[in-house]
Amino acid sequence: MRDPWIRKNRKQIEEIDCRGQVVLPGFVDSHTHPAFITTRLLDFEKRIAGATYEQIAEAGGGIQSSVDPVRKTSREELAERVLNALREMARQGTTTVEAKSGYGLTVESEIKSLQAIGQAARRWPGTVVPTLLGAHVVPKEYRDRSQAYAEIVCKEMIPRVAKRNLARFVDVFTERGAFSLPDTEKIFDCATRQGLGLRAHVCQLSETPLRSLLNFNVTSLDHLDQINDADISLLAKTDTVATLVPGANYFLGLEQFPPARRLIDSGVAVALATDYNPGSSPTTSMPFVLSLACTHMRMTPAEAISASTINGAWALRLQDRKGSIEPGKDADLGVFDVQDYREIPYWFASNRCALTVLNGVTNAPCICSNPDLRKK
Ligand code: NIG
Ligand code: FE
Repeated sequence: MRDPWIRKNRKQIEEIDCRGQVVLPGFVDSHTHPAFITTRLLDFEKRIAGATYEQIAEAGGGIQSSVDPVRKTSREELAERVLNALREMARQGTTTVEAKSGYGLTVESEIKSLQAIGQAARRWPGTVVPTLLGAHVVPKEYRDRSQAYAEIVCKEMIPRVAKRNLARFVDVFTERGAFSLPDTEKIFDCATRQGLGLRAHVCQLSETPLRSLLNFNVTSLDHLDQINDADISLLAKTDTVATLVPGANYFLGLEQFPPARRLIDSGVAVALATDYNPGSSPTTSMPFVLSLACTHMRMTPAEAISASTINGAWALRLQDRKGSIEPGKDADLGVFDVQDYREIPYWFASNRCALTVLNGVTNAPCICSNPDLRKK
């Protein structure tokens, strides 16, 4: 042990034997919606029968159907759900998580959701970055009055959330059936004035021109399935990260996946995330997302790992602390029972994570389905 710091602090150092395993920076899951209560099994069956995500939403399913249960549930119960999701993520190698509100859609219940995220975060050794997604969809009380609801988001939700330091980012679902581009610009303007960072769900189902959004200092634009080449060139000139969430394409049964190759080959920084949510992507598994990125988006395993570690950290503006194993950065590690890092996306739908270290705290061994893979 030649390092003088290690020699001096030997007594408080925990040594972990990782011989024969692969050690990575912990995954940074930079896009999740964990503050929900109920599954959406009706939507699931309707889609199997042929309905699309948008048709289901128009018929009263979709995001709206997740709202009442969240409004009726206590903050403590919601926090418990979020904590369970965080724990499940850590068992699969994730150590940093962005967590959005967005199923309350009133000032009170969005605040309750963010408080629940905060409560769960305090009971979890990893790092949680909370995001206000009050502009997820227009709640039914404001049907056909989307601008009035956007006003509430701007004038009440954002200032109260900022004042109480409940979120670091504001997100908007910019899409037909959700919020328009002018609504998004207005919300971005208010969030900027309150000192909050910006991100948006955009170009998921239909194309939205990105130029006006890129005039803001937007940290991440997410989904981007329908982005055009001109906007890819624009994006490449900014330090906005493109966060791709192929779990949603998989679960919605879409033929097309996000255009990772076009983005990467044009010089855009691409991050990968689970988009964990009850409607379009009920998965907490970053390894599965990596696998989809390799098999359906032609990302190499090395690109997929960078996208889910250091680029995820950039997508949360945590690149100085997270996303790589370097002196001075937080001790966030994922240890995998594989010989080669390429096996992580290769063994799809199987958890090879043996251990995570979250801010220096070792997580309980992972539940591996194969007993031969568990650490002796
Ligand atoms: O990222 N597109 C908007 N939000 C989520 C879906 C949320 C839901 O269906 O509950 C997404 O896909
Ligand atoms: Fe999402």
